[in-house]
Amino acid sequence: MKINNRLKTIGDLVPLSSYPLDIGCDHALLSIYLIKERGLSKAVASDNKSGPLKKALENVKFYKVSDKVKLVKAEGLDSYIEGIDTVTISGMGGLNINKILDDNRSYLKNINTLILSPNNYSLAVKRKLIKLGYHIDNETLVKENKIIYEILVFKKGRKYYSYKKLFLGPVLMTKKDSLTKEYYQSILNTKQALLKALPKSFRNKIIVTKKEIKYLLQTLKDLNK
Ligand SMILES: C[S@@+](CC[C@H](N)C(=O)[O-])C[C@H]1O[C@@H](n2cnc3c(N)ncnc32)[C@H](O)[C@@H]1O
Repeated sequence: MKINNRLKTIGDLVPLSSYPLDIGCDHALLSIYLIKERGLSKAVASDNKSGPLKKALENVKFYKVSDKVKLVKAEGLDSYIEGIDTVTISGMGGLNINKILDDNRSYLKNINTLILSPNNYSLAVKRKLIKLGYHIDNETLVKENKIIYEILVFKKGRKYYSYKKLFLGPVLMTKKDSLTKEYYQSILNTKQALLKALPKSFRNKIIVTKKEIKYLLQTLKDLNK
């Protein structure tokens, strides 16, 4: 089936024996991919709007997986169904993802794996998940249409991270491929531009930004060794 590289990468991170819920499914292609290409037996795809779910229904019928992909119209984790142990959320802002998880924390007790790909505020998402009792199990980047997407895999269980590790990504900072370097370089460019634009009165923000620039320069130097 046709699926973009970003969604395929997310799909390939979903555990084979899991019962996954995709929140904000839009076209439901991720859930369909899990059934058709990865052999999962069932999946739930949810969205809080009718338009996307209409598209999802057409796709589920087209790919003949209506009996295996359940479509639910609901807000965030309200679409939780007994037995679900994995949640994917992608293509949304990080603060929206955090709100979805915060609004219905009680369902998280059953969720072992969360695969999240926020469009922004990934540091805030990492912090939120750590507060909710998860640790970072994997971090992957995908580049599509000139945009680099971060895909974060969280598993249940607490771990401590220094600010540096959390900011750079504890898994990502150990990778030496060209996309990781390009990603760090683009964050460095953004941080350097921000530092120039910050008014002097933003003292704390200036201190943090300088620290982040130092971490990025050091990591890029190490990656290029
Ligand atoms: C840009 S699409 C992303 C689709 C797909 N997940 C992807 O990564 O390509 C975001 C979808 O999330 C849905 N959405 C946004 N906030 C939501 C919420 N709080 N609960 C459920 N769905 C939500 C939108 O209706 C939209 O269909």
